[in-house]
Amino acid sequence: MKALRFARFGPPEVLAPADVAEPVPGAGEVKVRVHAAGLNPLDWKLRAGHLGLLPIGRPPRGLGCEFAGTIVGTGGGAHARHVGERVFGTVSPFAHDGAFAEYVVVRHDAIAPLPDALDFVGAAALPIAGGTALQALADVARVAAGQRVLVTGAAGGVGHFAVQVGKHLGAYVVGVCGPANVDFVRAQGADEVVDYAKDDFTRRSDCFDVVFDAASASTYHAARAVLTVSGVYVSTSGSAAAVASTVVGDLLGRLTSRRRAVAFRLRTGAAQWQRLAALAATGALRPHVERTIVLDEVAAALGAMESGHGRGKTVVRLM
Ligand SMILES: NC(=O)c1ccc[n+]([C@@H]2O[C@H](COP(=O)([O-])OP(=O)(O)OC[C@H]3O[C@@H](n4cnc5c(N)ncnc54)[C@H](OP(=O)(O)O)[C@@H]3O)[C@@H](O)[C@H]2O)c1
Repeated sequence: MKALRFARFGPPEVLAPADVAEPVPGAGEVKVRVHAAGLNPLDWKLRAGHLGLLPIGRPPRGLGCEFAGTIVGTGGGAHARHVGERVFGTVSPFAHDGAFAEYVVVRHDAIAPLPDALDFVGAAALPIAGGTALQALADVARVAAGQRVLVTGAAGGVGHFAVQVGKHLGAYVVGVCGPANVDFVRAQGADEVVDYAKDDFTRRSDCFDVVFDAASASTYHAARAVLTVSGVYVSTSGSAAAVASTVVGDLLGRLTSRRRAVAFRLRTGAAQWQRLAALAATGALRPHVERTIVLDEVAAALGAMESGHGRGKTVVRLM
């Protein structure tokens, strides 16, 4: 089968399609024919070696963390999945193989059935960015109707879903983005859009119950200026520095205030994907796929993503 591989950590050029053996499912696993796979910043960070201190599979290895496709084989063991089922889900970044491949093998509980309302491309865009937006706002920040939520990176993969989730939860949502994305963020449902080239949201006179730093572009220290007395700052933990400053800021901040800062980490698994599928089926979550590409274009697309200025999601079609 065709799959993307890299033999060493490095720049986009280390990533190339290769012919490799199809994976074989073991007990409790399923083999999926991948129809589409979503791109995420995690992919280029992994390829570049930025996560080298974590126990990830070392190169030579594959890449790609989320996908949608059809089950073509099961490895035995008791589980409810069956051949022919349309599913979507994630591959662990710690695994040796990735979703930028014609086939993946995953545990049966890493995937969920695809609702009829969702096509493969839309579903492949959902798990990581949609899951992050939903869990950060609904589970971590516990956004309630009527609250005020500010989202940085509101045009990005995570951010555009966060604007939609915030509106679904009944919040007043302010999205922060660059000048080229103002209309796009408004179209996601934002009540107000801040163009960061013109205005600095941390200097606003109004306050927010939640600042969701989806772009990991700000800090708790800066965002505190616009948090209510019991407000929550959630960072997507886009770098080790972002995690460290959020954790330290939270520890110090708790000495003198009721505010919280949380370094977010995504929970994966069938139950999480089912929540997303249910929201997508009702139209509350609408994946915006800005671009679909083929396997040969993934290396360049991930290189472009490193600029940090993506809009919506990019998805690779494998069928
Ligand atoms: N911890 C976790 O489990 C987890 C899960 C998912 C993602 N993440 C992390 O979350 C981050 C965002 O992921 P993503 O998929 O949304 O990336 P993305 O699609 O590349 O989007 C990043 C967005 O950030 C915006 N941006 C850049 N600089 C900004 C600034 N100064 N102010 C406001 N917005 C700014 C860009 O929009 P403009 O062009 O408008 O600037 C772009 O839309 C990444 O660091 C990723 O690794 C973490």
